[in-house]
Amino acid sequence: MRSGRLTSRQSPDFHRVISLRQILRISSFYTPTPKNSIAIRCALGPKLREYAEKAGVLVDNTNRELQALDSIPLQTWRSRADGFTEYLNKRWLDYTGMTLDQALGWQWLAAIHPDDLPALSDTWGKVLTSGKPGEAEARMRRFDGVYRWFLFRAEPFQDESGAVAGWYGTNTDIEDRKHAEQKLRDSELNLRQMTETIPEMLWSATPDGAIDYCNTRLLDYTGFSAEEVKGDNWTKLLHPDDISRAVQVWLSCVTTGAPYRVEVRTIHAADRTYRWCVTNALPLLDQEGRILKWHGTVVDMHDWKQAQEDLRNTQAELAHITRVMTMGELAASIAHEVNQPLASIVTNGETGLRWLARSAPDIEKVQELTKRMVADARRASEIIDRIRAIVTGRKAQLVRLSLGDIIEESMTFLKHEFQSRGISVSLDLATDLPQIVGDRTQLQQVIVNLAVNAMQAMAHAGRRNIHVRTTLLASETVCCAIDDSGPGVDSAAFPRLFDSFFTTKEAGMGMGLPISRSIIEAHGGRIRVENNSTLGGARFSFELPANGAG
Ligand SMILES: Nc1ncnc2c1ncn2[C@@H]1O[C@H](COP(=O)(O)OP(=O)(O)OP(=O)(O)O)[C@@H](O)[C@H]1O
Ligand SMILES: [Mg+2]
Repeated sequence: MRSGRLTSRQSPDFHRVISLRQILRISSFYTPTPKNSIAIRCALGPKLREYAEKAGVLVDNTNRELQALDSIPLQTWRSRADGFTEYLNKRWLDYTGMTLDQALGWQWLAAIHPDDLPALSDTWGKVLTSGKPGEAEARMRRFDGVYRWFLFRAEPFQDESGAVAGWYGTNTDIEDRKHAEQKLRDSELNLRQMTETIPEMLWSATPDGAIDYCNTRLLDYTGFSAEEVKGDNWTKLLHPDDISRAVQVWLSCVTTGAPYRVEVRTIHAADRTYRWCVTNALPLLDQEGRILKWHGTVVDMHDWKQAQEDLRNTQAELAHITRVMTMGELAASIAHEVNQPLASIVTNGETGLRWLARSAPDIEKVQELTKRMVADARRASEIIDRIRAIVTGRKAQLVRLSLGDIIEESMTFLKHEFQSRGISVSLDLATDLPQIVGDRTQLQQVIVNLAVNAMQAMAHAGRRNIHVRTTLLASETVCCAIDDSGPGVDSAAFPRLFDSFFTTKEAGMGMGLPISRSIIEAHGGRIRVENNSTLGGARFSFELPANGAG
């Protein structure tokens, strides 16, 4: 095909020259029978028909195939095997405003936008050589000079021997689609520009969880190229100890469509260290709820996390100091607690000696007394162990615990104090509570803080009762409520109760409640106060997730 040479700037004789050559070829190749007359006739305008008739070619005016092409609601055309266009239907002519004579052969190319002509000619040439269906897009001039985008499609048809005998083609107006595509491209460009200029680290993934995009900020941060982290290779960015956890969460989110959130150490190229980052992602869903895409962010929170850690350490130290102070205040009570088993050891020891001093020593009796002495010594030692745990500032140790046990143990330290102040304590501990995961000493500190507050609040009360109750709330949450029969919390004090250093007591430090709150929250729970105690005073209650579920 002579692509590129057939432009609207061809000489005015071009049409005639081509046509004459065609006529000669037609007359030499075709035997004028009714069957092939159509191909010949299609190629002819009125003037060429004259030549054709002169050349002895049969010209048939009753042409059903032409009518058929004209009635198709689409621009259609037909070419010879070598690409010479023999016919263009009425729709094509109406659109371009050209006559058939002006368009036949290669002349129709004059309607193609000059910028699109080389590519279209080239494609058409390749299609002709291949003998296979083909298509191309180009702008075509309308009768009023306006160009619109068209999709050109060509389909070969064969003769009896199976050789390509010619081509049928359609031109579909795709101007609207092109506009929509352009709009989409513009908005994609806009979005891409936004994701590249936004001061955040962004990424996206396919529905099955393969990373398909990371913005420059994320790549600069990690020092990897887009190619290096695509697909499943994103794990390279993480600290080796965090990979399996992140992958596990990610796979589960990709399966369920749940929002993804992990705190992981991510490589930081600038100083070749790992920094704590929080990575979040949400799925984009279609109308049926299917995941179309994942969009995610990575936020460096290393400094924040460090500050949190420092704060936690400071709080822990403070909690330790206040614990030691509380223990100091409760010294008398604790001494009494330890004294009890010691006194009983002494009594049992003396009795045992007496039984042994008899003329017939009662060995059985002495054995029993010795067993009691061992049990009492164990009790005293346990109490001392607990006190040591409380006053030595060691790191939190998370273990499975029974909330009821912790309450009973805490009461040991307070029992004597309560007795000496005429306070009666009733425990209502649910027997079927699930276990919690937590630090024994810290949780004891919360209960002691709340109980001491209750005790102090009732200093001038007529009735002095404390009621401790545990319950299982729905959704695997255990709850402990401590009620007192004091005056309740002063309404002006309510909003500031948990603030550090807020106290209404002369010797108070105002740290009991804030420390209790930070402990409970660190255990995934919450603490609150109400003035609706069944005993008439305040009710402090806290909730903790059962089985470490929070
Ligand atoms: N059971 C209660 N009834 C009434 N008011 C209470 C009760 N518990 C706490 N409060 C109020 O809350 C304030 C803060 O309590 P918090 O335990 O934080 O500090 P504190 O008891 O004053 O001092 P400390 O640091 O020694 O515990 C108390 O000063 C008191 O006014
Ligand atoms: Mg207090």
